[in-house]
Amino acid sequence: MSAYKPPHIPASEITPETTWLKRRTLMAGLAAGATFAALPKAEAAAPGLSEGMELKTVPGPIPAPSDKETSFEDVTHYNNFYEFGTGKSDPFKYSEDFKPYPWTFEIGGLVNKPQTVDIDTLLTKFPLEDRIYRMRCVEAWSMVIPWVGIPLSSIIDLADPQGSAKYVAFEGVVRPKEMPGQRGFAQPMPWPYLEGLRIDEARHPLTIIAVGLYGKTLLNQSGAPMRLVVPWKYGFKGIKSITKITLTEEQPQNSWNLLAPHEYGFYANVNPDVPHPRWSQATEQRIGEGGGLFGGAKRIPTEMFNGYGDEVASLYAGMDLKANY
Ligand code: MTE
Repeated sequence: MSAYKPPHIPASEITPETTWLKRRTLMAGLAAGATFAALPKAEAAAPGLSEGMELKTVPGPIPAPSDKETSFEDVTHYNNFYEFGTGKSDPFKYSEDFKPYPWTFEIGGLVNKPQTVDIDTLLTKFPLEDRIYRMRCVEAWSMVIPWVGIPLSSIIDLADPQGSAKYVAFEGVVRPKEMPGQRGFAQPMPWPYLEGLRIDEARHPLTIIAVGLYGKTLLNQSGAPMRLVVPWKYGFKGIKSITKITLTEEQPQNSWNLLAPHEYGFYANVNPDVPHPRWSQATEQRIGEGGGLFGGAKRIPTEMFNGYGDEVASLYAGMDLKANY
């Protein structure tokens, strides 16, 4: 830990929540009923992306939850991203050397058009949607985050999946020179970070690849330049800094399940009735609400599927969700 470099995000870079709220209110006024086609192409494109850059977005199709949004400051200063260290503030303190732009990722496996995709090009192909989601970490903290993203199904379709594809596997980045958590003696886990979804989960309209939050490209600690967001699952499914998307017939491996299979499953659906072996999952602490960032936040009841049951419960009809945790 002593070899780590000091924090790099100056306070001036941190956008207060109010700036975002004003911008969004303006957008909502202007864009009631507006379509992506109505946006000038040059603005939708984002050549030369950089960290924290303003993005042109369109309102997403999913209504925002009534809960208050977590501040930008809290969203970007309390993170899990073990490539930068295992402490909650390590990702913002020690991600300075990571250079996520330019960025390409591969889509392959059981597809007819395997390809390498440049993220700048990706952002010219699809509207960037505002998606305000409740997020719930397995450690019983939660946030409400205004993501900017693209439905994962649109990205998968670029590669024309074959009928035999049953799952989608994801791989994170391996750059020990830029990521202090990937070098040294005490490695928290084998790299790359791995995750997976069933194909119907991956194609569900709630599932997005996020490229930004609060209207700007992701900061390094949030998973720049692209990370998975699946709001009805525990946070560890949300793999950051994705380099590879592979369609498979077999259920892929996921890092936390490999590390501690009796504690972390493949499905990882938020479920207040299935306790973690070492703690209850019945309640959660909303970061920034009623207490400081690192403690004292009030406890609220956790909802089945993190409150997204109407949308996703049918995916698991007939499944034993205690056995498939
Ligand atoms: N992705 C990578 N590549 N490395 C990680 O360590 N941590 C996961 C997930 N994605 C992790 C990752 C865990 S445990 C959580 S809870 C979420 O990221 C946290 O996302 P957040 O920091 O944006 O809240």
